[in-house]
Amino acid sequence: MELQFEDIEKSYKDKKVLKGISVTMGTGVYGLLGLNGAGKTTMIRIMADVLRPDKGRILYNGRDIHDVGDEYRAKIGYLPQDVGFYSDFTGRDYLEYSAALKGMEKAYAKKRIEELACSVGLQDDLKRHCSAYSGGMQRRLGIAQALLDNPEILILDEPTSGLDPFERIKFRNIISAYSKDRLVLLSTHIVSDVEQIAAQIMMMEYGVIHHMHSSEEYVKMMAGKVWLVEMSAEELVEYQKQAVISNVAAKDGLMEVRVIAESRPADNAVQAVPNLEDAYLYIFNFHGQ
Ligand SMILES: Nc1ncnc2c1ncn2[C@@H]1O[C@H](COP(=O)(O)OP(=O)(O)OP(=O)(O)O)[C@@H](O)[C@H]1O
Ligand SMILES: [Mg+2]
Repeated sequence: MELQFEDIEKSYKDKKVLKGISVTMGTGVYGLLGLNGAGKTTMIRIMADVLRPDKGRILYNGRDIHDVGDEYRAKIGYLPQDVGFYSDFTGRDYLEYSAALKGMEKAYAKKRIEELACSVGLQDDLKRHCSAYSGGMQRRLGIAQALLDNPEILILDEPTSGLDPFERIKFRNIISAYSKDRLVLLSTHIVSDVEQIAAQIMMMEYGVIHHMHSSEEYVKMMAGKVWLVEMSAEELVEYQKQAVISNVAAKDGLMEVRVIAESRPADNAVQAVPNLEDAYLYIFNFHGQ
């Protein structure tokens, strides 16, 4: 399976929000990382075919998704960034209603609802009104909804927002297992959410995808650019005005500052082992403007 974005552009009024997105995705997990307002949700809504681009097209196995039409939409599971719940719906009502909208056969829907409620840890909460769920529980209900019909293309807009650390781990395991022969795209601004599970990570800033690489490739790209510099707290106040700092740790009465720099930033700087978070900061600070 292949999904190919060809030069997708989108504006709201006179503001261009997507400035020519061209990427090709196959099966596996794709992470879409970007700051607030980068255009992730806009790209996702176009991919889910709930929003039309102004220019460009998306090809599903070589065919324009608008020609594939209902057949394409039937292959999609979509978790929007903001899900509205009818206030008198229970969790079960919401999933049954979603299953009906997807045209799922009743017995099959019932089976899937039980399975998914267990995998997202809501089996004891389905009879409660979902408007009374916590934010994290609503997110998990939304994830179950997106997975209901075993979609070939699963699109999740900020699936982990509001999830506690245990639920985050559980979510990663569900997605890893699910993605074997399917395409999963998830957007987030939290690097650690995609670091372990995404085979490819797109970095998006203001309507442009700067890069699409594996986590290992990003880390390799950062070789020789991440440094540890010790300084006092007073020095740090001044230093942070001009440096790109990815972390600060207290160490023996001093500050150990993790700095992203093309060359040695201070005489006492030592090189550090880079990670994906460093690459994210590097790309958005040096290339993003
Ligand atoms: N319906 C709309 N009308 C006008 N402007 C919009 C609309 N939707 C989004 N925008 C603007 O488009 C830009 C991209 O928004 P988008 O929601 O795609 O970003 P995002 O990367 O998903 O951000 P976030 O991380 O905050 O969810 C923002 O500047 C936003 O204000
Ligand atoms: Mg968004």
